Amino acid sequence: ARKHRIAVIPGDGIGKETTPEGLRVLDAAARRFGFELELTHYGWSCETYAQTGKMMPDDGLEQLRAHDSVFLGAVGWPGVPDNVSLWGLLIPMRRDFDQYISLRPCRLMPGVRSPLADRMPEDIDFVVVRENTEGEYSSSGGRMFRGTEREFVTQESVFTRQGCDRVMKYAFELAMKRPRKKLTSATKSNGITFTMPFWDERFAEMAKGYPDIKTDQFHVDILCAHFVQHPDWFDVVVASNLFGDILSDLGPAVAGSIGIAPSANINPERNHPSMFEPVHGSAPDIAGKGIANPIAQIWSGALMLEHLGEAEAAAAVTQAIESLLAEGGPRTRDLGGNAGTVDVGKALAEVVARG
Ligand code: NAD
Ligand code: IPM
Ligand code: MN
Repeated sequence: ARKHRIAVIPGDGIGKETTPEGLRVLDAAARRFGFELELTHYGWSCETYAQTGKMMPDDGLEQLRAHDSVFLGAVGWPGVPDNVSLWGLLIPMRRDFDQYISLRPCRLMPGVRSPLADRMPEDIDFVVVRENTEGEYSSSGGRMFRGTEREFVTQESVFTRQGCDRVMKYAFELAMKRPRKKLTSATKSNGITFTMPFWDERFAEMAKGYPDIKTDQFHVDILCAHFVQHPDWFDVVVASNLFGDILSDLGPAVAGSIGIAPSANINPERNHPSMFEPVHGSAPDIAGKGIANPIAQIWSGALMLEHLGEAEAAAAVTQAIESLLAEGGPRTRDLGGNAGTVDVGKALAEVVARG
């Protein structure tokens, strides 16, 4: 049978609750479609940090490298500064494995209510393609001048031509595969006068190679407003690291809940493992109560199956999510229900198993 090696990192908070449900559904898919998932579990988390002073061992990335993909829950927990935990585990994967595409689909699923009045599923169906390795998330130029009343800190944004071009190319290619063939660029070249004009320049240059794609661009502030007022305008949205981060929480919010939003951190060249995780974090406010929505995790599992070449299984998982939501199956509180994390995971695993 086909075999895929998966590194599983539940991480912190609700990641520990959603990851097992993701695995439950992946297991059902593997049985039904006849492939094997060889799982290696890693307990790396803020607890690891408390015990060892590090989020993962020094050779952690080397250990992960031996896998086809990484399946991650969430990272971050009160008591460990977020910059320490995230830059000790999540961000190193994205950067060292050159996962320069963060793919974040936002869809209003049938049966889910958008907080926007009168919006139907066909109105909200777009993908944020987020640059995932450079831009505003940079480790260069960080300086602190502390200890006087005039203390200040600096940190640089880094936009490389290769970095802009490769994420834009991916976004154009993705738009080519979608019926509407539309690509929007998130910019802020009115206020940020070096990096963003460069981003716009690269976008315009890349657009020349895709005459069939309708393009537009908006400054990210008004783009946020348009996400709320005109979500139907958008098909594929390409954005820098920070803008993509913000837009990919806003998108799922207008589509009903951050609890269903998946993401794929992809190294398209497949030189390194790709990584699949929900868009949401560890949700300390609800962790340990068994009420987190596992759909974001499970849908991220579907994106992983797709990446692994198990397209049929991937489609079965997304169809199971669609039918569960459309047909009034168990749902968690963020979607207005009162089911638990495990109830939703079990229900989806059953639908996937049965076909
Ligand atoms: P969060 O996404 O963890 O939570 C935001 C809100 O959404 C909370 O009210 C939470 O209860 C709710 N929520 C999130 N996921 C949900 C789900 N599956 N079901 C139901 N409700 C859900 O964002 P935050 O509070 O800003 O961050 C908490 C921690 O997670 C921080 O340490 C942060 O740095 C980290 N974080 C990690 C990741 C990641 O690992 N990729 C992503 C975002 C935040
Ligand atoms: C995300 C998260 C991370 C990011 C944080 C936790 C560093 O918000 O994956 O969206 O900003 O990339
Ligand atoms: Mn985010």
